[in-house]
Amino acid sequence: MATSAEDIAVREILSDGVLSTFDLDITEARGLPNEAFTSDAYFAMEQKRLFARTWVFAGLASELPNAGDVRPVEVAGRPVILTRGNDGKIRVFQNVCPHRGARLVIENLDGNAMMTCPYHAWTYAMDGKLKSRPHFHKPDCHDTEGDDNISLFPVRSTTWYDWVFVNLDGKAEPFEDHIAPVEEWFQGFPLDPMRCAEHRVFEFECNWKLAVENYCDFYHVFLVHPALHQSMSKETRKSMQCMGRHLMNDYWFDTESRGGLGDKSAVGMNLIPGLKPEYAGKQVYSAIFPNMAVNVYPSNAQCVLFEPVSPGKTRMHMWFYFVDGDHTNPAFADERDNLYQEWAALNAEDEGICRRLQEGRMCDAYDGGRLAPYWDQGTIHFHRQLAEVMTA
Ligand code: FES
Ligand SMILES: [Fe+2]
Repeated sequence: MATSAEDIAVREILSDGVLSTFDLDITEARGLPNEAFTSDAYFAMEQKRLFARTWVFAGLASELPNAGDVRPVEVAGRPVILTRGNDGKIRVFQNVCPHRGARLVIENLDGNAMMTCPYHAWTYAMDGKLKSRPHFHKPDCHDTEGDDNISLFPVRSTTWYDWVFVNLDGKAEPFEDHIAPVEEWFQGFPLDPMRCAEHRVFEFECNWKLAVENYCDFYHVFLVHPALHQSMSKETRKSMQCMGRHLMNDYWFDTESRGGLGDKSAVGMNLIPGLKPEYAGKQVYSAIFPNMAVNVYPSNAQCVLFEPVSPGKTRMHMWFYFVDGDHTNPAFADERDNLYQEWAALNAEDEGICRRLQEGRMCDAYDGGRLAPYWDQGTIHFHRQLAEVMTA
């Protein structure tokens, strides 16, 4: 296969020299070079060569509760739409009209029977099929039959719990294989009974990868998050575990500080039905490759999306889940609010650090880092996965 200019540009940054350091002993290993975090060109290549090639989290199924709901979103910098059909199925399409290429949907639609293009009013059903074309044959001579050969361009997608995933290039491994290590890690923590109560957004002045890495960095907790530090049992604190392309962790709560500052277990709310009883003091945590995280506590969970905005800017979305019923029960309003505040405080503590991580990448001498063997195995694993997909 011919080498494109883009391949050459990627290999200039992810050179053989860079790639070979990932496999060295962690005391010798180096992470991704600065340009992978600062360059506009690399950011653009990442959209195409990483986010368009892998399974990525695109939105919540519960945000399309009814047939005819449509949500325009962006994945890998490309506009797509999530739709719910009359059959209850969620489908994903590229957000473009096959006629002359106008972007089809620009705002949420609720309970619509059809999607109509604003340019010449070609109209599509929720399953993407073309249904009608006014004045198609000539003025006042309409096509009311549609055309089975024309439909919106489908995007490979699947729904896992409340989360819609897409794979734009259609060539990623089967989703079941991709998510299997996470499924395994979450065993004993059933997610089916969880319902979303709240969506919060936090802005970080850093590259999305640094936001993910910081989220996976359990080393800094003792210094940057004193309240969280108190709430975690010391014996169980460790680095992220590498499983598939993902990173996982778990820890037990320090029983003495249960319900205190830093504790995110929403003490007092109902435990997840079906939770393994011995897990009532445990938290499980996963960074799902490439830019999603899911945390599960005994009575709540969060889904996180690290949305890449520009090389130096990330929008972190957090959706908060509670046991069905608890998510709206006014009796638990304080517990829910406390949890939101705990996370806002934690993210505020991280914001300044993430900014410094980005600023540090402007120093030419920094070449991917001198890593901490006990804590940074996950960092190198993440970089290895990223480079593997980017150079494939
Ligand atoms: S571009 Fe959509 S109907 Fe013409
Ligand atoms: Fe942190």
